[in-house]
Amino acid sequence: MLKGRSLIEPENFNLEEMDGLFSLAEKIEADERYLRESCRGRLLATLFFEPSTRTRLSFEAAMLRLGGSCLGFAEPGSSSAAKGESLADTVRMAAGYADVIVMRSPKEGAALLASRYSQVPVINAGDGGHHHPTQTLTDLLTIRRLRGNLKNFTIGFCGDLKFGRTVHSLTKALARCEKINMVFISPQELSVPEYIIRQLQRQDIQFTETRSLEEVMPGLDVLYMTRVQRERFFNEEDYIRLKDTFILNTEKMALGKKELVVLHPLPRVNEIAVEVDADPRAAYFKQAKYGMYVRMALLSSILGVN
Ligand code: NCD
Repeated sequence: MLKGRSLIEPENFNLEEMDGLFSLAEKIEADERYLRESCRGRLLATLFFEPSTRTRLSFEAAMLRLGGSCLGFAEPGSSSAAKGESLADTVRMAAGYADVIVMRSPKEGAALLASRYSQVPVINAGDGGHHHPTQTLTDLLTIRRLRGNLKNFTIGFCGDLKFGRTVHSLTKALARCEKINMVFISPQELSVPEYIIRQLQRQDIQFTETRSLEEVMPGLDVLYMTRVQRERFFNEEDYIRLKDTFILNTEKMALGKKELVVLHPLPRVNEIAVEVDADPRAAYFKQAKYGMYVRMALLSSILGVN
């Protein structure tokens, strides 16, 4: 039962609960009238203290398709945070207006803190370089739809694995699935944080780290590309030096399996050449659409209307 629960990091929901969400999202995808109007009279507050296109729009689209309504702000400059209001106060107030809160913040731990002050469920839409659990639901649903299940595959994570919160959340969730082999492809400076490596070791998950995408490309079933997270760098020179380390293009795609699935949480900057979009293995725009279905499943479950 997800009714009334917050979602701060992927481990808040167990595998069975996630599975339930994916089945529900697939039902909604198959019949877009399913659950329509189920959230009539319910309000979603979107508190975004950091830029977003997909996450905020897909949450709003999800709520509106369920018959509910949305209110909120898309940049902190237009909220009272600009006047110095604390997150705790903003959240306490929003919880009085809405039935569920979705929030994004540049600060690690912000969503957890918000959930402690909120009378209504809080969904973390990204807290700094930490977690992004609804992107993980999106990624897992996409893999399940395109591969048939969530076990027994090799996934390569490529790009900024240090600051990329989508990678942190997805590795945590996949560590609980059967027979997953992870390959981390990044420059030394952007490698996966030590705390994640230690956790994977404790859980006995198979993983390797490499600096070469070409070398590992033939063995991958899923390739998860990521953007170098410019906003989390301390200086611009490092960003410029590292930003184009890995660019997926048609030559590199030629090294991949026929049934490879290429994912990217988006936005993309330079890391996937536009020419790759026409390749049937490029699944990132489909992935963005699955994000709306899984958020419909999530909102209706948390609000207890399905
Ligand atoms: C990601 C994020 O915000 O972490 N975007 C998203 O939600 N789809 C990835 C990114 O910004 O690079």
